[in-house]
Formats: sequence, C-alpha cells, structure tokens
Amino acid sequence: MTTRHRITTLALTIVSLAIAISITAFGSARVSANSAAKQEAQLARARVARGQYLVTVGGCNDCHTPLKMGANGPEPDMSRMLSGHPEEVKISAAPKHGDPAWMWSGNGTNTAFAGPWGISYARNLTPDRMTGIGIWDEAMFIKTIRTGRHWGVSRPILPPMPWFNYAKMTDEDLKSVYAYLRTIKPVHNQVPDAVLAPPPPARPGA
Ligand code: HEC
Repeated sequence: MTTRHRITTLALTIVSLAIAISITAFGSARVSANSAAKQEAQLARARVARGQYLVTVGGCNDCHTPLKMGANGPEPDMSRMLSGHPEEVKISAAPKHGDPAWMWSGNGTNTAFAGPWGISYARNLTPDRMTGIGIWDEAMFIKTIRTGRHWGVSRPILPPMPWFNYAKMTDEDLKSVYAYLRTIKPVHNQVPDAVLAPPPPARPGA
C-alpha cells in the first residue's frame, strides 16, 4: 500500500466512523424524545384519573351538577354533569325566611343559593368555550381556587363554594382537577350572574 493509499483508507475510516456515531446519536435522541413523549402521555392520563377521583370525593357534583327527580327522590342529572345552575331555571328573588334561626337556602336543583351574601349560582365547569371554563388555562384555574376570586382576579367567590378548603390542595392535585375537567362533556349552559346583597346600612354615628 502506498502512503497515499494509507491516508485515503484512514480518511475513509474516520468518515464512516463519524457517520456511524452520528447515526447512533440521532437514533438515541429519537428514542429519548419518544420516551419523553410517552412519559408526558402517561402523566396526562394519571392526572385525569386523579382529577376524576378528587372531583368525586371533593363533592363538586353536589353543587355543580343539577338535581333532577328520580325514582328514589332527587338525584344528580349526570347528562348535565358539572354544568352548573341550569339557565332555564329562573330565580327572581331569594325566598323569604322570616325565621332568624335559618341562614341560607338552596333551590330545587341545588345549584342556586340564597343567604346573607345575596344569590349565588354554581358555575359551569365543563369545557364549553362560551359558557364553561373552555377558555380558562391551567394557571387561571389554579389562581381562582387559591385566591377565592372569580376568574382568579375579580370579585370574591361567594358561599357556599368552599374554595378555602380546595385552596389547600397541592399544585399537582389542582392540575389534576383541571386536567379532568378538560375531558368531560362540554355543556352549553349560561349560568346567571350572582346577585350581591346590598351592604348592610351604616350604623348611625359610625
Ligand atoms: C357547596 C357547594 C359547592 C361545592 C361543593 C363546590 N362548589 Fe364550586 N361553586 C359553587 C358556587 C355557588 C359557585 C359560584 C360562586 C360565585 O358566583 O361567587 C362556585 C364557583 C366555582 C368556580 C368558579 C369561580 C369563577 O371564577 O367563576 C369554580 C372553578 C369552582 N366552583 C370549582 C369547584 C370545584 C373544582 C369543586 C370541587 C372540588 C367545587 N367547585 C365544589 C358551589 C360549590
């Protein structure tokens, strides 16, 4: 073999080695991208399952799913799961109590509530874009529950929404609740705005 030959062979070897190395590197990058995507999908599925569990034990359906009359009495109407106070159930005024021993009341669908705060209506938590939380992102959902403010920034959320209990959930749990709510059936249902009670009259001389 001549020196030129040797140099050419060496150069060819180096080039093919480099090609081989880069193919292997590319291959393993693809493999790790694939497994990262798989892990993401796994995490997403786990969050949805955990979110369903938390929504069930957290009692969100108790107020956010309207009751209908069933064979054994009132039961949640799961065809309208978590869609809030039904828009066709109109409420014109809070019921008169007259008895100071009673403080608040719920209507027949258990989605409208009257008390010293005024009248509040359980909101539509389905992913409907117009009337539900379809356009909310995860950060806004978490901020709403953590701060107890409507849309995370506006007026205080009224009773009986027990946001102060849910505010104690971990970030991971709130992310899971949000992830689950994204997967439920969107229901178009425009919940009326809350009616705030007028502030109590100022005390004379105060
Ligand atoms: C005891 C009744 C009750 C329970 C239980 C309940 N909610 Fe609510 N929720 C309400 C009412 C009433 C409102 C509306 C309050 C208002 O208009 O200020 C509301 C409002 C909300 C809002 C909307 C806030 C906004 O900015 O519009 C979210 C989000 C919410 N609830 C999520 C949940 C989740 C998630 C659960 C279960 C983990 C849950 N709620 C359980 C009664 C309840």
